[in-house]
Amino acid sequence: MTMDLGKTVCYCMSVTSGMIKDAVDSGASTLEEVQGITSAGTVCGSCLEDVKRLVEYFVNERDSK
Ligand code: FES
Repeated sequence: MTMDLGKTVCYCMSVTSGMIKDAVDSGASTLEEVQGITSAGTVCGSCLEDVKRLVEYFVNERDSK
């Protein structure tokens, strides 16, 4: 799986994949914690599934190091 870190995931809050990765790398492990840092998925909610998937992906990546 290739990850484009510059890709916008949440359009309402202009949050990219890379910003979700940064939130996870700085200690966030759940959707709620990532939302607390980035506000991704807190407006219209249409990106929520994608945000959730990315949080899981980056947590896995972080914890398998
Ligand atoms: S696109 Fe993420 S809350 Fe609307």
